[in-house]
Amino acid sequence: MQFAKLVTVFIIISSILSCSKEVVKPRVPQIIPAPLRLDITEGQFILNANTEIESNSEFSVAVNFLKDFINPIIKGGSGPSNKIRFIKDKAIKNKEGYVLQITPKCIAIRTNSDKGAFYAVQSLRQLLPVTFENKSTKKKQFAILCLKIEDAPRFQYRGMHLDVSRHRFPVSFIKKYIAALAMLKMNTFHWHLTDDQGWRIEIKKYPKLNTIAAFRDETLVGHYSDQPHRFDGEKYGGVYTQEEVKDIVNFAKSRQITVIPEIEMPGHSQAAIAAYPELGCSGEPIEVAKLWGVFEDIYCTKEETFTFLESVLDEVLELFPSKYIHIGGDEAPKTQWKSCKVCQQRIKTEGLKNEQELQSYFISRMETYLNAKDRQIIGWDEILEGGLAPNATVMSWRGNENAIKAAKEKHHVIMSPTSHSYFDYYQSINNNEPMAIGGFLPLETVYYFNPVPEGLTKEEAKYIIGAQGNVWTEYMQTEGQVEYMVFPRILAMSEVVWSGNENKDYDDFVSRVENFNKRLQALDVNYANHLYDIEGALMSTKNALSYALKTRLKEKSIRYTLDGSVPDVNSKRYEGPLPITETTTIKAAVFDAKKQLGTNFSETINFHKAVGKKITIDKTPHTAYSGSGANGLINGIQGSDTRFGDKEWVGFWGDTIEIVIDLGELTEIESIETRFYNGNGQWIYAPEYVAIYFDIETGINETILLNSKETIVQAKLNRAIKTRFIKLVIPNYGIIAEGLQGAGNKAWTFIDEIIVK
Ligand code: ACM
Ligand code: ZN
Repeated sequence: MQFAKLVTVFIIISSILSCSKEVVKPRVPQIIPAPLRLDITEGQFILNANTEIESNSEFSVAVNFLKDFINPIIKGGSGPSNKIRFIKDKAIKNKEGYVLQITPKCIAIRTNSDKGAFYAVQSLRQLLPVTFENKSTKKKQFAILCLKIEDAPRFQYRGMHLDVSRHRFPVSFIKKYIAALAMLKMNTFHWHLTDDQGWRIEIKKYPKLNTIAAFRDETLVGHYSDQPHRFDGEKYGGVYTQEEVKDIVNFAKSRQITVIPEIEMPGHSQAAIAAYPELGCSGEPIEVAKLWGVFEDIYCTKEETFTFLESVLDEVLELFPSKYIHIGGDEAPKTQWKSCKVCQQRIKTEGLKNEQELQSYFISRMETYLNAKDRQIIGWDEILEGGLAPNATVMSWRGNENAIKAAKEKHHVIMSPTSHSYFDYYQSINNNEPMAIGGFLPLETVYYFNPVPEGLTKEEAKYIIGAQGNVWTEYMQTEGQVEYMVFPRILAMSEVVWSGNENKDYDDFVSRVENFNKRLQALDVNYANHLYDIEGALMSTKNALSYALKTRLKEKSIRYTLDGSVPDVNSKRYEGPLPITETTTIKAAVFDAKKQLGTNFSETINFHKAVGKKITIDKTPHTAYSGSGANGLINGIQGSDTRFGDKEWVGFWGDTIEIVIDLGELTEIESIETRFYNGNGQWIYAPEYVAIYFDIETGINETILLNSKETIVQAKLNRAIKTRFIKLVIPNYGIIAEGLQGAGNKAWTFIDEIIVK
């Protein structure tokens, strides 16, 4: 990207400016999301009380925003007269595109719509000091570097999701969230309004939704995998009133954001069924869920359900002008449909094959209803099961397979795969991170996400209309926690959906994030800061091992110790990879000249007998969880106890795997051990046993039986034997059984370091 090259221009201009005392100096543009093209030209524009805005009513959203943003600050000052002009330019084909040209006398915004104008203003905003964000500046004149930006988004759908069922957030926060999306040139807020743990939108025709479905009696304390489950004993919930919804939708309009409501069906509907048990198959009373997960109480396919949902949607359509309505469709266990007379009768009368086709019938019927009202549906990728509704847009969350299938069938697809867009996953392997659902999605993985999966032709790829980040809030009780999980990953996602996929440069991005954090501070956003985390990597050459440390921000230094002590500013400065010849603990941290910046890093390299030897696996790890590959299983480093997605765990989806370690020569060993991750809520199952084979001539094989229910399952064989080869056969759990989280899907196997002593 162009930014680094611009520094010289900046220095010349800032020295000219330093003679003028009241003017706030211009800054090197560090815009997020990165614009398509940015060129610095000569001179500067002085924004001041004499700056006029010239526009017509077509650009009112952009102009109103700009006035609000700058007016109170520059009012009452003086300075040169100049203009900010909004100019209609029909030659700009992309309705969200714009050209922002800044010359000493004029800031010219050329665009073909109010949307493009709004995004030009968002870029201009980032050329101004962060004190504009909280109106804290006392200065009255601001210099902006002359430049030209030509910009347009890569995707038409640029979204963020927020689950308000698991936790409900105040209207003020929903607006703050929407405002942040708009700042980053996103255009869609996917509002997840209903789920098992609480119904959150006032529906006048069904008052029990507002009084019963909206409240759970209590909430799980701690993590789902902590046993036994404990609850807080406190009633929790509430809806957003229709007046509040209107207020939010209106606010979103002033930020060029479309709000897409999600009303879940046929699954994730336990809260609604708790209010109206007749909507379920059994008709029995149930309670609003107080535990996280997937539940078997789903809407019955009786006529009454359709009447109910159509009436609910009638009220929803009144409140939300969006073209799309999200109808959920995910994670609907078919257990109750299988034993329900009405549902089985429906299968017969409609000539359906099975419950999957019954789900397809359900979704298609709702689609027909909404299409007749001139709306389109979006559904999670389960809506492909049993056949896709004719006009549906697919939101793909379980990998790429369904996205590819839908695009090939000429359906629009929005990408939000768990591997790249689940912002409820951990973002750092630091053990002091706030509790999250699991997984591991660091900033860099989001940054390098390409929403267009491989395997599509250029024509088919056009059906991928965009992507979004998902924020499921089981483990986010407060606004601050949501912000912590969203920022800075949303910054990376904004570049994924706005900026092109070419010329990606993570180091450049990170330096812009460091700068952007000041803006987030001014906006009182509780962002996570892992910019000063250290990344370590074991490097192996033919005869030697070494360990490299890396920090993303080049001008900062790393200091380390090898004696177990905590590093400080006087510790040895890291200059290059450290040779590893025995079991070693490295402690390190990032420092500027005076103080430590980030958190402490610690890694122990366990120098066991397989380290650096040859390893082969008969199956390829899943691309999203390939860790450090096969070699990572014998690199001396264990995976994190909580982040199965860190680079030391290796994940396989649905396969039995055979791993062979070649120790190079006959070697005396005493034991073999490894670990498996066991997060059943996340479809991850430790195997029931591991079979271990040695050199054929030994004729020996052993089986380690595993039956632990712990999150980390240890597998260890103590066996003194001389062998060159060790083979491990690790069976996959298979298809997840009915009644369990992820039922019907393949189970994952996650394996950690294989330690040979
Ligand atoms: C989902 O995460 N159940 C869409
Ligand atoms: Zn039924």
